[in-house]
Amino acid sequence: MLRTHNCGELNINNINQEVILSGWLQKSRDLGGLTFIDLRDRYGITQLAFNMETQSQLCTQARKLGREYVLQIKGVVKERESKNIKIPTGDIEILVSEIEVLNKSKTPPFTIENNTDGGEEIRMKYRYLDLRRNPLKENLMLRNKVGFEVRSYLHNIDFIEIETPYLIKSTPEGARDFVVPSRMNPGTFYALPQSPQTFKQLLMVGGYDRYYQLVKCFRDEDLRADRQPEFTQIDCEMSFVEQDDILAIFEGMTKHLFAAIKNITLSDFPRLPYDEAMRLYGSDKPDIRFGMQFVELNDLTKNKGFNVFDAAELVVGISVPSCASYSRKQLDKLVKFVQRPQLGAKGLVYVKCNEDGSFKSSVDKFYTQDDLQAWANKMGAQAGDLLLILSGETAHTRNALNELRLEMGDRLNLRDNSVFAPLWVVDFPLLEWDEDNNRWHAMHHPFTAPKPEEMSLLETDPGKVHANAYDLVINGVEIGGGSIRIHNREVQEQMFKLLGFTETEAKEQFGFLMDAFEYGAPPHGGIALGFDRLVAMFGGSDSIRDYIAFPKNNSGQDVMISSPSEIADTQLDELSLTVKKTEK
Ligand code: AMO
Repeated sequence: MLRTHNCGELNINNINQEVILSGWLQKSRDLGGLTFIDLRDRYGITQLAFNMETQSQLCTQARKLGREYVLQIKGVVKERESKNIKIPTGDIEILVSEIEVLNKSKTPPFTIENNTDGGEEIRMKYRYLDLRRNPLKENLMLRNKVGFEVRSYLHNIDFIEIETPYLIKSTPEGARDFVVPSRMNPGTFYALPQSPQTFKQLLMVGGYDRYYQLVKCFRDEDLRADRQPEFTQIDCEMSFVEQDDILAIFEGMTKHLFAAIKNITLSDFPRLPYDEAMRLYGSDKPDIRFGMQFVELNDLTKNKGFNVFDAAELVVGISVPSCASYSRKQLDKLVKFVQRPQLGAKGLVYVKCNEDGSFKSSVDKFYTQDDLQAWANKMGAQAGDLLLILSGETAHTRNALNELRLEMGDRLNLRDNSVFAPLWVVDFPLLEWDEDNNRWHAMHHPFTAPKPEEMSLLETDPGKVHANAYDLVINGVEIGGGSIRIHNREVQEQMFKLLGFTETEAKEQFGFLMDAFEYGAPPHGGIALGFDRLVAMFGGSDSIRDYIAFPKNNSGQDVMISSPSEIADTQLDELSLTVKKTEK
């Protein structure tokens, strides 16, 4: 037996028991006559004690052991003289009688402690060592717990988990595909799924009316803190449902998770139509932990001689509480913030609502105190508040003000990550116009059904058509999205036509789905939640990487296994591939 107990479970009730423990040497301390070793495993840390006077040979042996050696020890549990209340095993220590080195370790390239001295890159290269540290261990345990609770909730209401294939077919919609060459069919490629969308719909045609899967998805897109090239979805689909049925079940699941994981009882989630979200927050994933909603000021700002506002399609502002005392320097910083190339605002107008009831603005030349009072009234501003106003083309201006609102939320500490504010954004437009390619894109995906009452607009004014499509947003993060689907061949054909597919292209790429619709496809709809994002949110972090055991870096590489990598010429030949070699 390599151990009788783990390193996290012994306490005062085990005094005088003989035990065997195995684990890693975290740290050793020599205090003259006594040597202490902290032995660590997944469950915790137990202190080992060696007495130089009574066990000189053993103690000498213990002093020679290095960090991260794998040890097996035998000994007796004793009450400690000086207790450590911070850890569950802090009342006891083991007086060791035998020690065996199960494996040696080189000195690790960074310290394996809660606060490590290792930089990001070195920790990614030695990920297996980083995984020994508590913060990562806790993240993976959290991930396991969330996964367990998801499965338990869905299992209890008759969902069944069904696996769908990873080697599928490349399609041009959505992000770029990762492709896999087929040896047996030279010159052809599989694609890794960006999501199991079409397969889950086929499962509905197959009669499995409540499907789910914790499934890997693959997307070749630019990476960010909340995006990995391979990530996990909680993917779900249901038959014989309307939007409300799906929202009720997944609102229920989210509430269940918050109760089970965070011990938080959430109230019912507000539902905000997409158009409202854009008007009030300039974003389809608003952070509603704090106010500062947008107020449009076109009617109050025009025709007073200020050309910038006169020429603007939209004049819109936020009222920032208690910031009227901002200095010139602080205001200049905000101007620079909105002028960054990513946001591209030309300038920022401010109005200070002074405590004495007067106003001081950057446009005093054009507007009277009464004008500014009217703006403040419309914006619900109080004395002491600061109005920040942007103007220009609607979409750009909203986007820039959204970023500014989030920035002000951060500055005022209104984005506390122990507070959770979920909402459903609903009624998304079905299509969005792609200026660059002069064509319509499906806002969600091409399988999303138009709202039945707006079907007739598909021919005449497709941009006006909405969908029963919805996103689950928590604290400004898109956690999930889904929709009611098309289940009728003619409508699906019409949709592909609108999206610029020729009849042959549509048949070639999605003929299997449209054929299936002709054999009794039930009405159906579903949703997919980003599992990594959900777990990171429960952990209070924006970065999903720390919640994935072996993630990729921002260049899509796994630096531990050096992937992606070149492959041998023989492999290339077998796959009928030629590769343009780049100069090193
Ligand atoms: P969608 O593309 O919105 O929908 O994806 C669903 C959710 O998956 C998460 N997500 C990601 N997480 C990490 N890294 C990524 N690169 C990444 N991309 C997406 C997000 C997102 O909300 N088939 C549809 C769902 C449906 O209609 O049922 C789909 O995939 O949290």
